[in-house]
Amino acid sequence: TERVLTGITTTGTPHLGNYVGAIRPSIEASRAEGVESFFFLADFHALIKCDDPARIERSRLEIAATWLAAGLDPERVTFYRQSDIPEITELTWLLTCVTAKGQMNRAHAYKAATDANVAAGEDPDAGVTMGLYCYPILMAADILMFKAHRVPVGRDQVQHIEMARDVAQRFNHLYGQGRELLVLPQAQIDEELATLPGLDGRKMSKSYDNTIPLFEGGARGLKEAVARIVTDSRLPGEPKDPDASHLVTIWDAFATPPQRQQFRADLRAGLAWGEAKQRLVDLIEAHIGPMRPRYEELMAHPERIEEILQEGARKARAVARPLLAELREAVGLRPLK
Ligand code: TYM
Repeated sequence: TERVLTGITTTGTPHLGNYVGAIRPSIEASRAEGVESFFFLADFHALIKCDDPARIERSRLEIAATWLAAGLDPERVTFYRQSDIPEITELTWLLTCVTAKGQMNRAHAYKAATDANVAAGEDPDAGVTMGLYCYPILMAADILMFKAHRVPVGRDQVQHIEMARDVAQRFNHLYGQGRELLVLPQAQIDEELATLPGLDGRKMSKSYDNTIPLFEGGARGLKEAVARIVTDSRLPGEPKDPDASHLVTIWDAFATPPQRQQFRADLRAGLAWGEAKQRLVDLIEAHIGPMRPRYEELMAHPERIEEILQEGARKARAVARPLLAELREAVGLRPLK
């Protein structure tokens, strides 16, 4: 069997980028024969960026409900909360001890923070925590703990998966005695959808405040968000350049190939942006509208989500425990009594 694993950080409301980059491909992958899947809520990662407990709690609920509404089958998939698996934290330490500091200096999230500080004339490390610095090691532990072969993600996560590979390789080299103690994971990205743009054309991201929420706000919220997609000022009737518009990129994420061609042809023929936006709302709504009642039902019953996550944690720990015991022994620690 092949193992597929992915996680989402519980710091905000799930958006279309999370959906096309991670949720949709991972659910699709989980339905294939011979695939064993592990999907989780990365709430330890959330602490790196967010010190508001209520927000983390709310986000965790929204992300769990989103995943289930989008078709995750908890019978087929091991679906859990990262913080329910103490083995992950323990593995993080074993990996921390074999990870080169220089490699962490190059990690995107940390580098972005220090670069911004330098640009602002401040101390490079101002506001940088060890959590942010070691973020990729925790993520490597998430992946390696379950011997994942394939990790469906958007492009922004590819570097982290490469780092997980490096860490696994180093660990195997030091302690494996020829055996592959840890599996080297591979990112699964859809080249066409790897970075979904947001309202302003930059990557859709919680931190840019340019997202289109998936379910929150209902159909009306979707319409309002789509109305705020930035378009050029060409008037109704004027030909438009579809290839220069991020609205078209978002369209493509939900459209069939004939729908993609038609939309481009209509824009070139002068379709008004207002009408184009209405079509986009209808297209997205056709995909996610049918999932919305399930989302709302789950949001109204957090105790059902909790039950699913508890069961998921039980299944996940049953996989994690024996591997961790093996790793402890490999590095020279005694088994836990
Ligand atoms: P996070 O929470 O930022 O994003 C969750 C997933 O959504 C994808 N994504 C996008 N894909 C395409 N276009 C976009 N605009 C877009 N925005 C977000 C992300 O690439 C990601 O796949 N560190 C991770 C969470 C994590 C994880 C893991 C993932 C923790 N441990 C282990 C995989 C395996 C993160 O913060 O993703």
